[in-house]
Amino acid sequence: MTLDEYILQHIDAEGDYLHALWRDTQLRLSYGQMASGHLQGRLLKMLVQMIKPLKVLELGTFSGYATLSMAEGLPEGAEIHTFEVFDENEDFLREWFEGSAYKDKIHLHIGDALQLLRQMEEQWDLAFIDADKREYVAYYEMLLPMMRPGGYILADNTLWYGRVVEKARESDLQTRGVQAFNDLVASDNRVEKVILPLRDGLTLIRVKA
Ligand SMILES: C[S@@+](CC[C@H](N)C(=O)[O-])C[C@H]1O[C@@H](n2cnc3c(N)ncnc32)[C@H](O)[C@@H]1O
Repeated sequence: MTLDEYILQHIDAEGDYLHALWRDTQLRLSYGQMASGHLQGRLLKMLVQMIKPLKVLELGTFSGYATLSMAEGLPEGAEIHTFEVFDENEDFLREWFEGSAYKDKIHLHIGDALQLLRQMEEQWDLAFIDADKREYVAYYEMLLPMMRPGGYILADNTLWYGRVVEKARESDLQTRGVQAFNDLVASDNRVEKVILPLRDGLTLIRVKA
């Protein structure tokens, strides 16, 4: 048995619905491994339960696995807005969101998160950055003024297959994007931060009140 298998046997089950979504993601979408999956999904749900946010934002929906995991932990009256630029995923996403117990809490926006979010005047309690790695700095700078003081930003893939410790080629814009984001957050006194070496790296950021 691998350590990963051992962990999954000793944490909460993901549940039938998310398990079926994971399988459907692998069957019908390309790059199915981008979905958060069992372990990160349970962590996201637990973080939501701890933070008790009323307004949650997700940049990069993909197949909706993280969206539905976070929706499970939301308190009464809370909602999650999720943004996906790849419109070919829209039918898949609407089917899985509509069929879920959380359909009334989930708002799917199809389009570029950077453009669409600028038009919204919400204040967010929790934001999950998980879209284009080249744009992480832009997402962060746009989001910070939109966050409630004391709110949280989670950023996924911040260790980027371990490549963040290497000197990135000039053409490797994704690694460079994640490195620039990590450097920016590390030196930003407006926030507290910690990186969890979970999966591909998950940074937890608290916006100081
Ligand atoms: C890693 S996947 C998201 C996985 C999902 N959050 C989860 O944990 O299950 C990244 C997604 O971001 C989307 N994306 C990339 N750039 C985007 C943008 N500018 N606006 C919205 N979505 C974007 C991609 O199409 C892709 O589906």
